[in-house]
Amino acid sequence: MGGVQSRAELDQFWQREDPWGYQAHPHDRIRVGELLAALPRRPYGHTVDLGCGDGFVTFELPGERVTGIDLSKEAIGWAEKRAATRVDRERFHFKAASIFDVPQLGLPPADLIVITGVLYPQYIGGAFAAIDAGLSALLAPGGILVSVHISDWYRSSFSLSRLVMHRYPYREYEHLLEVYQR
Ligand SMILES: C[S@@+](CC[C@H](N)C(=O)[O-])C[C@H]1O[C@@H](n2cnc3c(N)ncnc32)[C@H](O)[C@@H]1O
Repeated sequence: MGGVQSRAELDQFWQREDPWGYQAHPHDRIRVGELLAALPRRPYGHTVDLGCGDGFVTFELPGERVTGIDLSKEAIGWAEKRAATRVDRERFHFKAASIFDVPQLGLPPADLIVITGVLYPQYIGGAFAAIDAGLSALLAPGGILVSVHISDWYRSSFSLSRLVMHRYPYREYEHLLEVYQR
Protein backbone atom coordinates (compact mmCIF):
# COMPACT_ATOMS: atom_id res chain seq x y z
CA MET A 1 0.00 0.00 0.00
CA GLY A 2 1.24 3.55 -0.77
CA GLY A 3 1.46 6.44 1.69
CA VAL A 4 -1.27 8.58 3.18
CA GLN A 5 -3.40 10.21 0.49
CA SER A 6 -2.78 13.92 0.03
CA ARG A 7 -5.39 16.62 -0.49
CA ALA A 8 -4.40 16.78 -4.17
CA GLU A 9 -4.98 13.03 -4.58
CA LEU A 10 -8.32 13.18 -2.78
CA ASP A 11 -9.37 16.22 -4.82
CA GLN A 12 -8.56 14.29 -7.98
CA PHE A 13 -10.71 11.44 -6.77
CA TRP A 14 -13.56 13.78 -5.85
CA GLN A 15 -13.66 15.38 -9.31
CA ARG A 16 -16.63 13.18 -10.07
CA GLU A 17 -19.81 13.16 -8.04
CA ASP A 18 -20.46 10.26 -5.65
CA PRO A 19 -17.20 8.38 -6.47
CA TRP A 20 -18.09 5.28 -4.43
CA GLY A 21 -21.64 5.05 -5.76
CA TYR A 22 -23.26 5.53 -2.34
CA GLN A 23 -26.46 6.96 -3.80
CA ALA A 24 -27.30 3.80 -5.74
CA HIS A 25 -26.06 0.98 -3.49
CA PRO A 26 -28.69 -0.43 -1.10
CA HIS A 27 -26.02 -1.24 1.51
CA ASP A 28 -25.18 2.45 1.81
CA ARG A 29 -28.79 3.27 2.60
CA ILE A 30 -28.71 0.45 5.16
CA ARG A 31 -25.49 1.68 6.78
CA VAL A 32 -27.02 5.09 7.39
CA GLY A 33 -30.03 3.38 9.00
CA GLU A 34 -27.72 1.27 11.20
CA LEU A 35 -25.88 4.39 12.34
CA LEU A 36 -29.04 6.35 13.15
CA ALA A 37 -30.59 3.36 14.96
CA ALA A 38 -27.47 3.05 17.17
CA LEU A 39 -27.53 6.70 18.32
CA PRO A 40 -28.71 7.27 21.87
CA ARG A 41 -32.07 9.06 21.68
CA ARG A 42 -31.49 12.56 22.95
CA PRO A 43 -31.23 16.08 21.56
CA TYR A 44 -27.83 16.92 20.04
CA GLY A 45 -26.66 20.51 19.95
CA HIS A 46 -23.46 20.39 17.92
CA THR A 47 -22.69 17.42 15.66
CA VAL A 48 -19.38 16.98 13.84
CA ASP A 49 -18.96 14.58 10.89
CA LEU A 50 -15.26 13.96 10.17
CA GLY A 51 -14.25 12.92 6.68
CA CYS A 52 -17.78 13.82 5.60
CA GLY A 53 -17.18 13.57 1.85
CA ASP A 54 -20.13 15.01 -0.06
CA GLY A 55 -22.39 14.80 3.00
CA PHE A 56 -24.02 11.44 2.18
CA VAL A 57 -24.18 10.65 5.92
CA THR A 58 -23.95 14.23 7.20
CA PHE A 59 -27.34 15.33 5.91
CA GLU A 60 -29.04 12.49 7.82
CA LEU A 61 -27.53 13.39 11.20
CA PRO A 62 -29.34 15.02 14.10
CA GLY A 63 -28.03 18.25 15.61
CA GLU A 64 -29.07 21.86 15.85
CA ARG A 65 -25.77 22.66 14.14
CA VAL A 66 -23.94 20.07 12.04
CA THR A 67 -20.32 20.62 10.98
CA GLY A 68 -18.90 18.50 8.17
CA ILE A 69 -15.13 18.38 7.72
CA ASP A 70 -13.19 16.79 4.88
CA LEU A 71 -9.64 17.19 3.64
CA SER A 72 -10.84 17.38 0.03
CA LYS A 73 -11.97 20.82 -1.12
CA GLU A 74 -13.76 19.10 -4.00
CA ALA A 75 -15.76 16.92 -1.60
CA ILE A 76 -16.67 20.00 0.44
CA GLY A 77 -17.76 21.69 -2.78
CA TRP A 78 -20.20 18.83 -3.48
CA ALA A 79 -21.48 18.96 0.10
CA GLU A 80 -22.07 22.73 -0.09
CA LYS A 81 -23.88 22.31 -3.39
CA ARG A 82 -26.16 19.71 -1.85
CA ALA A 83 -26.72 21.84 1.26
CA ALA A 84 -27.79 24.79 -0.85
CA THR A 85 -30.83 22.84 -2.11
CA ARG A 86 -32.13 22.03 1.37
CA VAL A 87 -34.74 23.90 3.37
CA ASP A 88 -32.72 23.22 6.55
CA ARG A 89 -29.43 24.38 4.99
CA GLU A 90 -28.79 26.79 7.89
CA ARG A 91 -28.08 23.74 10.07
CA PHE A 92 -25.09 22.66 7.98
CA HIS A 93 -21.58 24.08 7.90
CA PHE A 94 -18.74 22.54 5.90
CA LYS A 95 -15.02 23.07 6.12
CA ALA A 96 -12.08 21.73 4.10
CA ALA A 97 -9.56 20.65 6.73
CA SER A 98 -7.67 17.59 7.88
CA ILE A 99 -8.86 15.50 10.75
CA PHE A 100 -5.38 16.08 12.20
CA ASP A 101 -6.04 19.84 12.36
CA VAL A 102 -9.31 19.55 14.28
CA PRO A 103 -7.79 20.80 17.57
CA GLN A 104 -6.73 24.03 15.79
CA LEU A 105 -10.12 24.76 14.19
CA GLY A 106 -11.68 26.32 17.29
CA LEU A 107 -14.86 24.27 16.97
CA PRO A 108 -17.38 24.44 19.80
CA PRO A 109 -17.56 21.23 21.87
CA ALA A 110 -19.36 18.42 20.05
CA ASP A 111 -22.32 16.55 21.53
CA LEU A 112 -22.02 14.01 18.72
CA ILE A 113 -19.00 13.07 16.59
CA VAL A 114 -19.45 10.74 13.63
CA ILE A 115 -16.53 9.18 11.79
CA THR A 116 -17.27 6.66 9.06
CA GLY A 117 -14.86 5.16 6.57
CA VAL A 118 -11.93 7.39 7.52
CA LEU A 119 -9.72 5.56 10.03
CA TYR A 120 -7.96 3.49 7.37
CA PRO A 121 -4.19 3.35 6.73
CA GLN A 122 -4.52 5.10 3.35
CA TYR A 123 -5.96 8.16 5.12
CA ILE A 124 -4.33 8.29 8.54
CA GLY A 125 -1.24 6.06 8.31
CA GLY A 126 -0.39 4.91 11.83
CA ALA A 127 -1.49 8.13 13.52
CA PHE A 128 -4.62 6.92 15.28
CA ALA A 129 -3.40 8.03 18.74
CA ALA A 130 -3.35 11.70 17.67
CA ILE A 131 -6.90 11.40 16.32
CA ASP A 132 -8.08 9.65 19.47
CA ALA A 133 -6.68 12.50 21.59
CA GLY A 134 -8.01 15.26 19.31
CA LEU A 135 -11.54 13.89 19.02
CA SER A 136 -11.80 12.98 22.69
CA ALA A 137 -10.90 16.58 23.54
CA LEU A 138 -13.50 17.94 21.09
CA LEU A 139 -16.26 15.82 22.60
CA ALA A 140 -18.35 17.52 25.31
CA PRO A 141 -18.58 15.66 28.64
CA GLY A 142 -21.23 12.96 28.16
CA GLY A 143 -20.96 13.40 24.38
CA ILE A 144 -21.30 10.50 21.91
CA LEU A 145 -18.80 9.36 19.28
CA VAL A 146 -19.89 6.91 16.57
CA SER A 147 -17.27 5.11 14.47
CA VAL A 148 -18.20 2.89 11.50
CA HIS A 149 -15.51 1.09 9.52
CA ILE A 150 -14.81 -2.00 7.42
CA SER A 151 -13.63 -4.36 10.14
CA ASP A 152 -10.72 -5.83 8.14
CA TRP A 153 -9.21 -2.37 7.63
CA TYR A 154 -9.66 -0.89 11.09
CA ARG A 155 -7.97 -2.20 14.25
CA SER A 156 -8.26 0.72 16.66
CA SER A 157 -10.29 1.64 19.74
CA PHE A 158 -10.99 5.08 21.14
CA SER A 159 -10.01 5.74 24.75
CA LEU A 160 -13.64 6.51 25.66
CA SER A 161 -16.34 4.28 27.21
CA ARG A 162 -17.65 1.95 24.54
CA LEU A 163 -21.42 1.52 24.76
CA VAL A 164 -22.04 -0.52 21.59
CA MET A 165 -20.15 -2.82 19.21
CA HIS A 166 -22.24 -4.04 16.30
CA ARG A 167 -21.29 -5.82 13.06
CA TYR A 168 -23.33 -6.11 9.89
CA PRO A 169 -22.66 -7.00 6.23
CA TYR A 170 -21.58 -4.12 3.98
CA ARG A 171 -21.02 -4.82 0.27
CA GLU A 172 -18.41 -7.65 0.17
CA TYR A 173 -17.15 -6.67 3.65
CA GLU A 174 -18.29 -6.42 7.25
CA HIS A 175 -18.88 -3.10 9.00
CA LEU A 176 -17.95 -2.59 12.62
CA LEU A 177 -20.10 0.09 14.24
CA GLU A 178 -19.02 1.39 17.64
CA VAL A 179 -20.71 3.91 19.90
CA TYR A 180 -18.59 5.59 22.56
CA GLN A 181 -19.35 8.09 25.30
CA ARG A 182 -17.05 10.55 26.98
C1 LIG B 1 -14.53 6.45 2.32
S1 LIG B 1 -14.89 8.18 2.38
C2 LIG B 1 -16.18 8.24 3.60
C3 LIG B 1 -17.10 9.44 3.42
C4 LIG B 1 -18.21 9.55 4.48
N1 LIG B 1 -17.68 9.62 5.82
C5 LIG B 1 -19.19 8.42 4.38
O1 LIG B 1 -19.16 7.53 5.22
O2 LIG B 1 -20.01 8.42 3.46
C6 LIG B 1 -13.50 8.84 3.26
C7 LIG B 1 -13.44 10.35 3.29
O3 LIG B 1 -12.38 10.76 4.16
C8 LIG B 1 -11.78 11.92 3.59
N2 LIG B 1 -10.43 12.05 4.19
C9 LIG B 1 -9.32 11.32 3.93
N3 LIG B 1 -8.30 11.74 4.67
C10 LIG B 1 -8.75 12.75 5.45
C11 LIG B 1 -8.16 13.59 6.45
N4 LIG B 1 -6.87 13.48 6.80
N5 LIG B 1 -8.93 14.52 7.03
C12 LIG B 1 -10.24 14.67 6.70
N6 LIG B 1 -10.85 13.91 5.76
C13 LIG B 1 -10.12 12.95 5.15
C14 LIG B 1 -11.79 11.64 2.09
O4 LIG B 1 -11.64 12.81 1.32
C15 LIG B 1 -13.17 10.99 1.94
O5 LIG B 1 -14.15 11.94 1.65
